[in-house]
Amino acid sequence: MAKAIRMQQTGGPEVMEYVDVDVGEPGPGEARVRQHAIGLNFIDVYFRTGLYPQPLPAGLGMEGAGVVEAVGAGVSEVRVGDRVAYAGRPNGAYAELRNMPTANLVKLPDAISFETGAAMMLQGLTVQYLFNGTVKLKRGDTILFHAAAGGVGLIACQWAKAIGVNMIGTVGSDEKAALARAHGCTHVINYNTENFVERVKEITNGEKVSVVYDSIGKDTFIGSLDCLRPLGMMVSFGSASGPVPDFSLAELASRGSLFITRPTLFSYASTRPALEAMAADLFEMVTSGKVKIDIHQRYKLADVAQAHRDLEARKTTGSTILVP
Ligand SMILES: NC(=O)c1ccc[n+]([C@@H]2O[C@H](COP(=O)([O-])OP(=O)(O)OC[C@H]3O[C@@H](n4cnc5c(N)ncnc54)[C@H](OP(=O)(O)O)[C@@H]3O)[C@@H](O)[C@H]2O)c1
Repeated sequence: MAKAIRMQQTGGPEVMEYVDVDVGEPGPGEARVRQHAIGLNFIDVYFRTGLYPQPLPAGLGMEGAGVVEAVGAGVSEVRVGDRVAYAGRPNGAYAELRNMPTANLVKLPDAISFETGAAMMLQGLTVQYLFNGTVKLKRGDTILFHAAAGGVGLIACQWAKAIGVNMIGTVGSDEKAALARAHGCTHVINYNTENFVERVKEITNGEKVSVVYDSIGKDTFIGSLDCLRPLGMMVSFGSASGPVPDFSLAELASRGSLFITRPTLFSYASTRPALEAMAADLFEMVTSGKVKIDIHQRYKLADVAQAHRDLEARKTTGSTILVP
């Protein structure tokens, strides 16, 4: 038996139950992973609340790192004893031990700890595809990136700096502003005290930005469109404040033939070659020191409810891990 989180129903943090589960042998195409650290991500909140539906009862969590204990039939990607990490389906990372499809596992370089691996796979691969796949950013580009002091945000600050991109970041407090700035964000706006649309216009001398990365959703969506120059790209990749309300395509036309996309990591990393190339890029950014993974919160797996409360209350910065 192993400890794991299970949900019988969707709802508040209290629906996550810390229980004993029988993990069993890995099936074909699976490996059993003894997890040393688990990543906490905002997508876990969407699954917990039911914003993203899944059949119940269910596990939760999409990111972890550990050691392969056993493999099922037909597995070629990993071997028993390998250090591995992953970001992906199915939910169930909140566990000491789990079976995981090996198509989603990557070998973790020796230079990267389990904790760093668990903290960076989902958020780091997200920045990788947002900056290289969704739009191929180039030196000198100016972008707006919301929630710049969060898990994805602090990685984005450093990655943008490393590739010579001017990043305007938004954050919810002055302490978070200092953090984003210290991580390489070129300009930081506190959107709780400043009008971010006006500030973006000032900072860019009225030119506005070519790409907006918006993971806030409901509260920022229209303002984000207002920050784009004609032919700009709106990347709506999350909804921490609630889903984006229905809007008219005319909103894109009136602001100058804007583009919009709603990307997910799982479609960009859906093939083995794509996942391996993206992971290699991320590992290079981390092992070269260009991107440091800041784990600012650690919770015991049994205390996951508190971790969710803090994430939803905007109390966390950088990355958060759960320790089994
Ligand atoms: N599509 C994808 O492929 C993909 C992949 C990974 C993550 N994401 C999205 O990226 C975002 C960041 O993920 P993360 O795990 O790194 O989380 P995070 O940024 O560490 O935490 C979310 C942050 O959003 C901000 N926020 C603004 N309004 C909020 C509200 N009403 N409630 C809660 N937070 C609010 C807060 O920062 P401030 O206090 O500074 O405002 C908060 O700290 C999430 O929306 C997530 O769903 C998308």
